[in-house]
Amino acid sequence: MEALNALKSKYLNAVSEAVDETSLEDLRVAAVGKKGEVSLKMRELGKMSPEERKIAGPALNALKDEINSALLAKKVALSDAALNDRLQNEWLDVSMAGRPRRRGSLHPISQVTEEIIAIFASLGFSVAEGPQIENDYYNFDALNIAPEHPARQEHDTFYMYRNENDDRAPNVLRTHTSPVQIRHLEENGAPCRIICPGRVYRADYDQTHTPMFHQYEGMCIDENISMANLKWTLEEFCRAFFNVDDIELRFRASHFPFTEPSAEVDIRCSWVGGQLKIGEGDDWMEILGSGMVHPKVLHAGGVDIEKYQGFAFGMGIDRLAMLKYGIPDLRAFFDSDLRWLRHYGFASLDMPNLHDGISR
Ligand code: PHE
Repeated sequence: MEALNALKSKYLNAVSEAVDETSLEDLRVAAVGKKGEVSLKMRELGKMSPEERKIAGPALNALKDEINSALLAKKVALSDAALNDRLQNEWLDVSMAGRPRRRGSLHPISQVTEEIIAIFASLGFSVAEGPQIENDYYNFDALNIAPEHPARQEHDTFYMYRNENDDRAPNVLRTHTSPVQIRHLEENGAPCRIICPGRVYRADYDQTHTPMFHQYEGMCIDENISMANLKWTLEEFCRAFFNVDDIELRFRASHFPFTEPSAEVDIRCSWVGGQLKIGEGDDWMEILGSGMVHPKVLHAGGVDIEKYQGFAFGMGIDRLAMLKYGIPDLRAFFDSDLRWLRHYGFASLDMPNLHDGISR
């Protein structure tokens, strides 16, 4: 009995002082494991007289149970303590204010391009693209601009470098989006309805000109297309884009080598106190160049000119952005000045401003 009491207090003390699960497991093995002290004592029961066994048996069983339940209780206590510890240390204040982040904004050119695409999409036009580095053929020849044509000089073209002994005509940075007309017709043929927004380049720099700027080309080729369709399309566009019901456009006879007849298009407007109002007043402002696609251009694009004809136009995207959002200097568009970008930029979810009355 003495011995059992000694075992009991030895293990119960040790259990109560154990600091982790590993030491508890070591204690379990040492006490009640197969070769543990209590288990060894139990084996000795066989050698005892029945009377001795009657006392020692239950006492050993009781000791074993007691140690086992002490081990279990300590295990639970240890894991409770571990959990409390984590709760203390990994505590997170979900009500704390977030770290502020600067939100970016959409450049007015991106915004206006999206607006243009949305309006023309609702008129059944899709978007076509072409390269910014063009060859002489697509930028000029195929558009009926012969090498000696004065339009080549007018465009202030940037020419790419050619090796000295390479006598091919140099490539150019495209001076307009019109080469996409040819590329699109070559690939897809007629009929078609496309717009082609993109970057174009001319050596020019002042308040309203930058060496790189943005245009979009529109082209519609089908049977029975006339200047009337052109005018209606442009009016619908202006009505939607400027969000003004009473739009008035004026066609002024002009000349482009790739259209015949050609017209520059003015929009009725007023400037009162330096403020532009579209659709009213006695002023006219030029907004684009247009015309019926020249048969030579259709031919270069592989279109059957007995069957098809159509219109094309080209408009400055930057200029549209300046007019619609009252931005005075074009050069600032490309300065990457963050203060300017934050002021004129658009939130990414600002939807293109579509005029309700657009007819389909
Ligand atoms: N490409 C012409 C320009 O850049 C615009 C234009 C396009 C005119 C299509 C007529 C038809 O000035």
